[in-house]
Amino acid sequence: MQLLAINGSPRRHMNTGTLLDQIVKGAASKGADAELVHLVDLAFTGCRSCFACKDPKGKSYGRCATKDDLSPILRKAHEADALVLGSPFYFSMETAFMRACMERLWFQYYLYTAKKPPLSPRKKATALVYTMNIKEGQIAEFGKDVVIKRSKGVMEFLFAPCEVFCCCDTRQVEDYSKYEFDVFDVPAKLQRHKEVFPKEMEQAFALGQRLVQ
Ligand SMILES: Cc1cc2nc3c(=O)[nH]c(=O)nc-3n(C[C@H](O)[C@H](O)[C@H](O)COP(=O)(O)O)c2cc1C
Repeated sequence: MQLLAINGSPRRHMNTGTLLDQIVKGAASKGADAELVHLVDLAFTGCRSCFACKDPKGKSYGRCATKDDLSPILRKAHEADALVLGSPFYFSMETAFMRACMERLWFQYYLYTAKKPPLSPRKKATALVYTMNIKEGQIAEFGKDVVIKRSKGVMEFLFAPCEVFCCCDTRQVEDYSKYEFDVFDVPAKLQRHKEVFPKEMEQAFALGQRLVQ
């Protein structure tokens, strides 16, 4: 069993990275070969729309032909039994790192014909992990439900049922006193980080276990 988790946050060990690390640990605790990749470490672009992945006679049919640091990650994602994409919300979207990765991962499999299924390996357990500043009850108010539904929909079209894990009201910085942060109730945020985030880490660990079972 192989699990690949991809971190779309430019920060390796903050909220998203920490939760993904727990997912990897949970998968490993069940004997899986689990790996966490940080997109910030890679030099890569989004989809170049070269259409090599759509040429049925070409050698890249169903596979992204662009060669850069994301290429081996796309190969690993193709082979993995479980795939987790994690991203903070940036202006109510996945980060640019994650969007570029999604374009390449998704478009290579997508076909413009109703006569064939997509070229993706269909039996992959998947999950999307989102972290964000807003509180649980504000997801729809800020339109994030639409983004989550759209990305979940693509994952399910290409792979298999996709679990969504949302972590809200995150501690955005270690030291709030250095910055101007008066739109948030900082003590409440720090309290939540102390009390709720460890529970979310446990839930992420359990998600990692579930994904490889
Ligand atoms: C450029 C930028 C844009 C952001 N936009 C949003 C947003 O639209 N909604 C939100 O809830 N949080 C937003 N945030 C906050 C992050 O989503 C949140 O702090 C997240 O947990 C950070 O993930 P990380 O700790 O893994 O880097 C933004 C942060 C940055 C840096």
